[in-house]
Parts: sequence; C-alpha cells; structure tokens
Amino acid sequence: MSQKYNDTPQNKNRFTITAALPYTNGPIHIGHLAGVYVPADIYARYLRLKGKDVAFICGSDEHGAAIPMKAKKEGVTPQEIIDKYNGIIKKSFEEFGISFDNYSRTSAKIHHKTASGFFKKMYEDGKFIEEITEQLYDEEAQQFLADRFVVGTCPKCNHDGAYGDQCESCGSSLNATDLINPKSTISGSIPVLRETKHWFLPLDQYDTFLREWIIKGHKKDWKSNVYGQVKSWIDEGLKARAVTRDLDWGIPVPVEGAEGKVLYVWFDAPIGYISSTKEWAEREGKDWEPYWKDSRLIHFIGKDNIVFHCIIFPAMLQAHGDFILPENVPANEFLNLEGQKLSTSKNWAVWLHEYLEDFPEKQDVLRYTLTANAPENKDNDFTWKDFQARNNNELVAIFGNFINRVIVLTHKYYDGKIPAPNTFSDIDTQTLQELKKYPEIISNSIEKYRFREASQELMNVARLGNKYLADEEPWKVIKQDEERVKTVMYVALQIAAGLAVLSEPFLPFTSNNLKKMLAFGTLNNIPAWNDIAEKDVLLPAEHTVEKASLLFTKVEDEEIQKQLDRLEATKKANQASIAEENATVEPQKDTITFDDFSKLDIRVGTILEAEKMPKADKLLVLKVDTGLDVRTIVSGIAKSFTPEEIVGKQVSVLVNLAPRKLRGVESEGMILMTENKDGKLVFLNPDEANIPNGKTIN
Ligand code: MF3
Ligand code: ZN
Repeated sequence: MSQKYNDTPQNKNRFTITAALPYTNGPIHIGHLAGVYVPADIYARYLRLKGKDVAFICGSDEHGAAIPMKAKKEGVTPQEIIDKYNGIIKKSFEEFGISFDNYSRTSAKIHHKTASGFFKKMYEDGKFIEEITEQLYDEEAQQFLADRFVVGTCPKCNHDGAYGDQCESCGSSLNATDLINPKSTISGSIPVLRETKHWFLPLDQYDTFLREWIIKGHKKDWKSNVYGQVKSWIDEGLKARAVTRDLDWGIPVPVEGAEGKVLYVWFDAPIGYISSTKEWAEREGKDWEPYWKDSRLIHFIGKDNIVFHCIIFPAMLQAHGDFILPENVPANEFLNLEGQKLSTSKNWAVWLHEYLEDFPEKQDVLRYTLTANAPENKDNDFTWKDFQARNNNELVAIFGNFINRVIVLTHKYYDGKIPAPNTFSDIDTQTLQELKKYPEIISNSIEKYRFREASQELMNVARLGNKYLADEEPWKVIKQDEERVKTVMYVALQIAAGLAVLSEPFLPFTSNNLKKMLAFGTLNNIPAWNDIAEKDVLLPAEHTVEKASLLFTKVEDEEIQKQLDRLEATKKANQASIAEENATVEPQKDTITFDDFSKLDIRVGTILEAEKMPKADKLLVLKVDTGLDVRTIVSGIAKSFTPEEIVGKQVSVLVNLAPRKLRGVESEGMILMTENKDGKLVFLNPDEANIPNGKTIN
C-alpha cells in the first residue's frame, strides 16, 4: 500500500536549514565545524544572497544520558553542565560567523512544550506500541541502563565499545539488549534483565513509505554515502524502537502511568528544530508554520546522525502528519586530525575557543581550510601543514596579494579614486566576461552541496585577478602609457568587487573587510550576487576606495610547530593514562589450597645470556642459572628489554612448569614479571639482594 507524503513544497523560495543540535557535554572542535556548521553556513549565507527566504536553525541538545554522566564525573549538577557548554558552544558559533537565525536549547520551555505535544498527538492517534519488555538493569546503581549507560560488543561489527544506542565504529543504531556482553558504565557491573513499560515507534510499519520516499524518490539526488547507509538499513528490516527511557533527565513522558520516564533524547532533539523555529518566529513576529509545512527542508549533519534524520525523524514527521519531509540530508563523513580520529575524551582535537587564542582574527582561515579539505565523500585529514599552506599559498599569496596590489596602486596613481576606463582590449573584455561566469559556477557547486569545489572556484576568481595584473603589469606600463593603466585598474577593481560579494558565504569576515576597503557603504548601488553576472559596472569611476589593509597574514613555521608540539604532548599524556588504566586491580582469582600453592616451585635465578628470537619481535631466548641447572627459557619480554640490559639480572623463576616449545625452542620454565605504570614489564626480582641462585621463594 502506498502512503502519501509531502517533500515538495509549493514555495520554492523558502528554505528551512537545520544544523545538528550539538550535545552540551563538551565544547566543539574543528570536526563539528567542518562536518556540519561551515557547510550549513555557506549554504544559508548563499541563499540569503540570492534573495531567498531562509530560516537557519540550530540549538543545544541538552538531554540524553551523556549529560548526567558528565555531571557525575565533574561532581556538579546536569543543569550546570548544560549551562556551561551551551555558553561555550554558542560563543564559538558567533566567533566563527555561523549565521544562525536562531540558536535555542532543548531545555527551553518552548521545546519541552513542543516535544511533549508532539508525543501526545502521536500517542492519541495511536502511533505508538505500548509494551512491557525486559531491559538491562544495574542492580548496584538501581537504574535501568540504555544508550550511553551501557557498553558491550556490537552484534554487527564486533567492535568492543559499542553503546546501548549506537556503535560508533560501524554506525549501526542499536538497542541496548542487542549488545553482546553488556556492562554498566555507571558501576561496571553486569546488568540483569528486568521488566519495564515503554512506548515504541513501530518503524516496520513505515517500511513502504520509506522505500518509496527515499529509495524511489531520492536515489539520484542524495549523496551516495547517505543513500547507501539508509538503503542498507531499510533492507536489513526495520524494527520497532523505544522512544521513552527510564531516566530522570529529560522531558517527562506526558501520559499516565509513565512516572519516572522521559522521552528518548533522539525523539526530542530533532523536534528541537521545530521549537527553535517557533522561538525565532515569535521573536521576529513571523509565522513558524510555513517553515515546516511549505518549505524546502535541508538537514546538515555528520554521518553518525544519518539514520536519525533519514529514517526515524521522517517517520515521526510522517506519523504526526502535516509536516514537510526533508528535501535533502547532505551528511558529511568524518574529519581526522593529523591522521587520528578526533576525540573529545582523548582531547585529540583543535578546540574552537582555543584556536582563537593562538590565531586571533583568523576565523576565515580555518573556515577556508576546513571547506577546501572538507570530508564530503570520504573521511579526511586536517593537518597543520595543510592549514599553513592554504593560508600562505592561497589566501595570502593569491587572494590577499591581488587585493593589496589593486588597492595600493589605486591610491598610488589616483589617490584612491577609481579612474574612468578607456577602450577595452580583448583581454579586458575576456576577463570581465570570465568574471561574469563565476556566480553561476559557484552557485552550481553550492546547490549540489559541493562546498570544496565551490571554495576552489572562489579562489579561481582571485587567480583571475592576479593573472590579469601579472599579464598587464600596470606598474611597468605606467611609465609609457598612463591612459592604458586607467583601464587596467578599472577592470581589476571590478574583479575585486566581485570577490567581495562572492566570498561572503565562505569568508564572511574577509568579505566584510574587503567591502569596507572598497567603500561599499558609500555606493548608491551596492553590488549583489546576481549583479556580478548581470551588470557591467560594479564599482563606478569616481568612487573612492579606502586605504589598503592586509586581509590575510602569513602563518609562520613556529606557530605550526607550537600546535604540533601540543598534539605530541596530548599523545604522551594519553599513553600514560592508558597505562594507568591498565594498572587497575584485577579481581582476585578463585581460592586455592595450601597444597595447590606448594606445588609451585619458584626460585631465584640469574640470567646468563639473552638473545632475540629470530623473526619474533616479542621473544627473547634466555639462559638462566636456576641453582639447579642452567636452562633455556623463552620469555615474551623483548618489547620491554634489550638483551644487553638484562644479562646478569637476578629474577624469580617458576622452575617446575612443564616444558613447552615456542617457535621450535624448548622453554623450561617461566620468569615472573609484572607491569609498571607505563606498561613496561619489570622483573619480580628479589630486591637486588644478591641471593644465591636456587633459593626457593615462598
Ligand atoms: N546531538 C546530536 C549529536 O551531536 C545531534 C542531534 S541532531 C538532532 O550527534 F536532530 F537531534 F537535533
Ligand atoms: Zn558496530
């Protein structure tokens, strides 16, 4: 049976652009910016320049198990956690020029009301299945476990640290009871099963709808990574999913008999897009409804959010009725940092608030680097060397250099007043024609969500200007032909004006500075995006521009080294803390009798010789004087010791262990060892007290 759905609004000029609501359990880093917020911002700014009606919506995602967990760890209340990070995150977005029309919070009253109402309507319309099921329960913490409160092995990919709602390794969305060998992250104990009542969204009933809408409808225009993930999810068979949780942090389930239960964070968070739109509309004196019923809805997200935005939220919107479905979900892959996965917990990141301390005023440089190297079709790597190269070789050497030459020469020759041109040469006409093509070239890339490509086309506009000046050499021609130079400078200034407008979505701060330098404020007709293609004159003769100031400055090697050193220090600190974690005390083994113990014959021995076992990087072959004899012992210690450093050492040896062959060499005993804090093996030696070999240890 086919089901009606609506993903094609009447109004083609209205856009509702959402960017994933960030969790408020930590600050944001370059991965967030590259994957979601910069592309979304470029898109929103571009559409505004094209005169579209845009609502660019975001806010903080403040529910979910991660928040109380973080609060517990820091010894503060969940409210303090969300207030702290909401503040930091919001500020970072402002500082990097992310031009949200509204930034809300899911803890806001309007959101609680909206999400609660959404659930209630679905409940009353009979869209949920109410079921008592067995869920994981932590008897020590006296709490049901789901989502981040439980880890275990992923049933799909065998990854060890999968969470109760999702495996971050393969991206699968999971139910806590799917996990193999689940363990509570609160107490570390093994959970038991206990009955509890929950409300489920029967996704299986949306199978036909989802197949028609996505598989038939969007095979061609959605990104292949997004489409592929969604298709395989649907093909695996959709299952009912609980949309409520036993938790005391979140939005209370608004029905009877649901005390102590809250809405699942992934149920309430996407509704946050709607609440945030409402908050904005109220403030602006607008009507929110057209933005959710007759608008082109685009969700900007990272790849770990795909199923929620392409399956679960659309099913909710469809179940609720009267909402529009997303036209596209241009999810990005992940960004790595210097070859390693970005990680909040391992502090492997470039934090936005810290970046600005080291590179004040260089917001656009980061925006540009992250766009030029965006993880659009595959995971990508951010490296500080690439950042430096993008800055020095492109922004400074091409864009900045062109603008600087134009403005400096205009002041030098004409006191800043744009000269009237004489007859255009072929080169002039071609160059001006070329400039006219760029709005459409860049539009095409942006509208296909190809922001990397778009950023390179923008740079090509600066290249066009640079090449024009290099070929026409006004600084030389001025000596023979002053009239010719007027035309050249006039043409170059038109390109500069084009750059000021076209760069706005990508480099908003630079665009602003450039517009000031070109004194856009004093123009009668300020050039708009479409004017670049349509008008012959962007900056008229007689218009006076301001003095030159540098748009970009060089990033020096030392500045890059400082960042690399910092990452190196983080790496070291992480290794040390892993070693410390490994040093946790293992539980005691089963009791043995004294007889069992006395079977062990442990003696003091001296290592007489040691050499590496060929083709085995862990093994050393030792000759040990045990007092009884000199025997061969193969020991897996080559990673911790060189042969030279252990010859002559006294060690404890288990001498009556049955001999066994290792790589063809018979080993007649075992050296007793332990690990120090750094994970290095150390001998259990008899305190260097020069004890005769063969003495028993007991
Ligand atoms: N907080 C989620 C994350 O960071 C994203 C939520 S997006 C929304 O992965 F749709 F739920 F709002
Ligand atoms: Zn997995």
